[in-house]
Amino acid sequence: MLSIRHLSKTFNAGTVNEKQALRDLSLEVPDGDFITIIGSNGAGKSTLFNAICGTFYADAGEIVLAGADITYLPEYKRYHEIGHIFQDPMKGTAPHMTIEENLSIAYFRAGRAGTLRRVSRADKALFREQLALLDMGLEDRMKSPVGLLSGGQRQALTLLMATMVTPKLLLLDEHTAALDPATADKVLSLTMDIVSARRLTCLMVTHNMHQALSLGNRTIMMDGGKIVLDVRDETRAGMTVQDLLDQFAAGTGSALDADRILLSKKPQ
Ligand SMILES: Nc1ncnc2c1ncn2[C@@H]1O[C@H](COP(=O)(O)OP(=O)(O)O)[C@@H](O)[C@H]1O
Ligand SMILES: [Mg+2]
Repeated sequence: MLSIRHLSKTFNAGTVNEKQALRDLSLEVPDGDFITIIGSNGAGKSTLFNAICGTFYADAGEIVLAGADITYLPEYKRYHEIGHIFQDPMKGTAPHMTIEENLSIAYFRAGRAGTLRRVSRADKALFREQLALLDMGLEDRMKSPVGLLSGGQRQALTLLMATMVTPKLLLLDEHTAALDPATADKVLSLTMDIVSARRLTCLMVTHNMHQALSLGNRTIMMDGGKIVLDVRDETRAGMTVQDLLDQFAAGTGSALDADRILLSKKPQ
């Protein structure tokens, strides 16, 4: 269970560039929820994820994960509990290190193996087995530097690294948006497989409204640092993309700014 209570974050407070990115935002996420998040650019979606991960601390409010108050826990102490995947496939992996080295870092960092030690034969077998699940032939390239992989392969590897040791929470920030459509489909279906096989609790930002409604069990819309719509289960099952747009307009008094969103009305 993730509980976010009255979270606020203002950037550059007291300057002309002051920006209130999160405004008294509260959200309860029961274990096993898969929430899709949509909202205009600048709505505060990435800021919410960064606050949950500890990239920076919120100014007010609290974040409780599995009963522990992590509001002011340093980022490095949250790594093993929270997987965070970004839009940019270059971000989640170290290009000059091999696939095996990247996986080892993720594996050790997640704490399963305790303190740093050499990668054992059993670890390698596990890495190979996990890589094979991606169905991209990476299990035969474990000694290749990650920099040689395609964006889609790197994103799939990042996904594996984030979930190899089951996280309490997986945060996906438009993690397929920078990939070509076929690769995006592939990475998305891998994501869905991993999330359901491990019963992960997951928040996923997407700009694709069809995806938002069809994936997971719950959809949240954000605007101006707040949640303006939160629908789940049967209520959501009966909704169309137009309903979502209408409800957004009703909740905020303005239309969703989203060229990108409107352009991607069709499923990707
Ligand atoms: N590190 C930062 N410094 C200053 N302003 C920021 C920073 N991160 C985000 N912002 C601002 O906060 C607002 C919310 O940004 P963000 O959470 O990235 O929106 P979204 O992910 O919904 O597009 C935006 O106005 C953005 O410019
Ligand atoms: Mg963002």
